[in-house]
Amino acid sequence: MKYKIALLPGDGIGPEVTDQAVKVLEAIADVYNHTFTYTHALVGAVAIDKTGDPLPEETLQICRESDAILFGAIGHPKYDNDPSAKVRPEQGLLKLRKSLGLFCNVRPVKAFEQLIDNSPLRREIISGTDISIFRELTGGIYFGSKELSEDGQTASDGCSYSVEEISRITHLAFKEAQKRRKKLTLVDKANVLETSRLWRKTVKEIAPQYADVELDFLFVDNAAMQLILNPKQFDVILTENLFGDIISDEASVIGGSIGLLASSSLGAENAMFEPIHGSFPQATGKHIANPLASILSAAMLLRHLDLHKEADAIETAVEKSLELGITTGDINPKNPFSTLKVGDFVADHITHPNDTNINYKNVHMGQSTII
Ligand code: IPM
Ligand code: MG
Repeated sequence: MKYKIALLPGDGIGPEVTDQAVKVLEAIADVYNHTFTYTHALVGAVAIDKTGDPLPEETLQICRESDAILFGAIGHPKYDNDPSAKVRPEQGLLKLRKSLGLFCNVRPVKAFEQLIDNSPLRREIISGTDISIFRELTGGIYFGSKELSEDGQTASDGCSYSVEEISRITHLAFKEAQKRRKKLTLVDKANVLETSRLWRKTVKEIAPQYADVELDFLFVDNAAMQLILNPKQFDVILTENLFGDIISDEASVIGGSIGLLASSSLGAENAMFEPIHGSFPQATGKHIANPLASILSAAMLLRHLDLHKEADAIETAVEKSLELGITTGDINPKNPFSTLKVGDFVADHITHPNDTNINYKNVHMGQSTII
């Protein structure tokens, strides 16, 4: 089959990790007889540098015409340290999510057995964790009215949610819970926030349509604690935009590295796939960035296109790289492999699944012709 993929590598390490994901997609194309055509488009600080706009209209057009979007990372320190900057790279990502209506952000968090001892959390706490975070992505405080008083002494960010915005992601989260362990936890701050009370009311009203799913509620401060005290209690977590941003970074500790967390952002007409990590500017060009989150995002992309065995092949290859320690320094500080070599290994394992152990020896002797 033929598929059109929009490639938005973005800033910092975005291009180098996205290159590895494309390499892996090409291995899939070869083995499973597909054709992926890629159209590159600008977003973020690179887009500002070239066009003055963090999300040029052309980029949006390319995204709209694609079957799926693969996104790298966004952000540059020159903007982080300048609070008065009028144009910021992040505006590109936010506008992209909003313009394409990507309201449902799914962030799976799994404790990879091979990495459990890398986590600062104890094995018995995290082993077996498997959570799917459903983060609302186009509403809430991210998109509310923003004000700074003329004298610069007062600022405000408005937070609002409608029943419609809450309902559409709630249905998707319940449906996912039905396919999994049938438990849904709404994370909110309903003891303080009006928007959170509307979330609770709306979710409760929808719940009877999914009577086989057990529903519970947690305040976000408690949820932040429970996530590291006892992460196994969670199956699907549903939450609003800002809380989802925060708890998904926190949850990444369970997986052993933020460099492993992939995500999908879904709307009625478009779908985008991206690592949850940022642009890691200090690592740019040093070939040390972990490409696995981007590669796993490509697997999510394939699943979205209903290419399940192809997605499985990527996930198996990633697990093999973790098992053999063919990983970057964030996971494997004693014997790190470069971004490129990790990508090569995963692609190679897809093309030659049975040769991997031989290649592994070669890798360690530095002699492999493949890697
Ligand atoms: C994320 C990121 C973004 C967000 C930033 C880069 C705007 O942290 O995708 O989690 O806050 O949503
Ligand atoms: Mg974030």
